[in-house]
Amino acid sequence: MENTGTWEWFVKKFELISKIDLNAYKRPQMERQINSFMRSVNSPDYISFINTLKTEKDIYQNFVEHITINVSEFFRNPNHWQVLENKIIPLLAKKNSLKVWSAGCSTGEEPYSLAMLLQEKRINLAERILATDIDKEVLRKAALGLYQEKNIQGVPAKYLSRYFLKEDNNFRVSNEIKNMIKFQHHDLLKDMIPRDYDLILCRNVVIYFTEETKEKLYKKFASGLKSKGVLFIGSTEQIFQAKELGIKSIATFFYQKE
Ligand SMILES: C[S@@+](CC[C@H](N)C(=O)[O-])C[C@H]1O[C@@H](n2cnc3c(N)ncnc32)[C@H](O)[C@@H]1O
Repeated sequence: MENTGTWEWFVKKFELISKIDLNAYKRPQMERQINSFMRSVNSPDYISFINTLKTEKDIYQNFVEHITINVSEFFRNPNHWQVLENKIIPLLAKKNSLKVWSAGCSTGEEPYSLAMLLQEKRINLAERILATDIDKEVLRKAALGLYQEKNIQGVPAKYLSRYFLKEDNNFRVSNEIKNMIKFQHHDLLKDMIPRDYDLILCRNVVIYFTEETKEKLYKKFASGLKSKGVLFIGSTEQIFQAKELGIKSIATFFYQKE
């Protein structure tokens, strides 16, 4: 065990409590975020902070949310969703039915956007869309499918009227769309990568990881795709070693397995 109270000590203790390995995330950013959170709960050092995390369930949960950064939007980067709709889905849908995974789905906006799009285009699914995240609380919110008006700005009007029900000032995703998705807890760094996917979305998740971790993860995604399957990544991301992984760029932010 590292010296009590150091960053390395904290990382190990935290992994014992949460199973989250902070070593895989970019350290300067992570340290900054953790220090600011510690200040907000009046923890002067890592030792007292670990005690707080062990004893205060709410603080622990807020902390996990704080470090996993789960901001999301419906149809985030609409131009890329246009490419998905007009180029990628038609390419994939030549096959019979699709197997789709939204990895790092946060509060559900991404898999729900996908489900609405597929429903609209009458695309058959081989099974429910798999939507996974490391954070159990965001998965609970995702499964609830209840959003405030400010959260549904990116939803096209026709989808809003077809696939949402208004409840007071909130909007609830219809059961038709909910039933297309299976939300599941999954740690991309530790758990087995599911296989045989036609389409994997992993957007705005790897940005917090070290280069080494990113590389490992892209390799895993490549292995999770079927031949001709497509990986859709975030708008600030790029896969430099695509060729070695047996995937190639077929549009900006889309990679296809050869
Ligand atoms: C910024 S959100 C991205 C949400 C959505 N994909 C989007 O682009 O709008 C990042 C998500 O990645 C999740 N995440 C972080 N580390 C993870 C890991 N090791 N395994 C699975 N999910 C992880 C976080 O909990 C968070 O919900």
